[in-house]
Amino acid sequence: MTTPAMQDMFAKRAAELREFIFSQPRSDLENNPWAVAHAIDTFTENVGHMMTFNQKKLEVAQAQLLAQQPSTRTILEFGTFVGKSAVAWGAILRDIYGKNMPEDVNVYTFEMDPQMVALSRELIKLAGIEDVVHVLEGPGSESLKKLHAEGKVIGVDMAFFDHWEKYYLPDLQLIEELKLFHVGSLAIADNTDFPGAPDYLKYVKAGGYGGVKYDSKSFETASKPGRPSTVEVSTIVAV
Ligand SMILES: C[S@@+](CC[C@H](N)C(=O)[O-])C[C@H]1O[C@@H](n2cnc3c(N)ncnc32)[C@H](O)[C@@H]1O
Repeated sequence: MTTPAMQDMFAKRAAELREFIFSQPRSDLENNPWAVAHAIDTFTENVGHMMTFNQKKLEVAQAQLLAQQPSTRTILEFGTFVGKSAVAWGAILRDIYGKNMPEDVNVYTFEMDPQMVALSRELIKLAGIEDVVHVLEGPGSESLKKLHAEGKVIGVDMAFFDHWEKYYLPDLQLIEELKLFHVGSLAIADNTDFPGAPDYLKYVKAGGYGGVKYDSKSFETASKPGRPSTVEVSTIVAV
């Protein structure tokens, strides 16, 4: 969870990131999701650290998505922040489908902080993937229930958990209750080692508690000492 001081720090960093991105030659970034994602990484590595999903971790998720059969069509992301991972999902989907993506290929990314919603939408638009990557403001659980009720999300190929860790398990179980997973769906979670999501980890490592079944594996990425490094990849093996 965050304190008001942390919120202020995130807001200041986000404003600095915005200034950094929009000071780059626009032609280098426009309609180029990988360039936008890498520019965000450059900022976090050289200018100011932020809680974004870094390149090494992204490569773990990317390998899973590129191997998914049939190809990934619907991604849910809990925790947009500045939009680094959301832009990267758009880049991966563009690598899979090309620039003219089918209408039913979508990323729905959930964020509570209106300032981050605004910035992430700007970066997604710059990357040229605003038709595919949709930022929904508010608690992820509420946005997901609404999308489901509207018939916009009828299945999930990959759910990414990168918001506040106490919500990981309830939000995973909401996806189960809505019957959105299928055999072969993926649940990918960041920060299960630090700050840590012990109830989520126990649940997926146990293979679930009798409903949806998971085969779960922890991937260690070589992060800097003291920085979170584990990505938990859980494949749905029975529904
Ligand atoms: C670690 S950051 C996400 C980083 C992002 N995935 C990236 O790579 O740039 C976590 C974000 O989750 C948001 N958040 C926390 N709880 C949430 C919830 N229940 N629903 C939606 N967003 C939430 C926070 O406001 C914060 O911006």
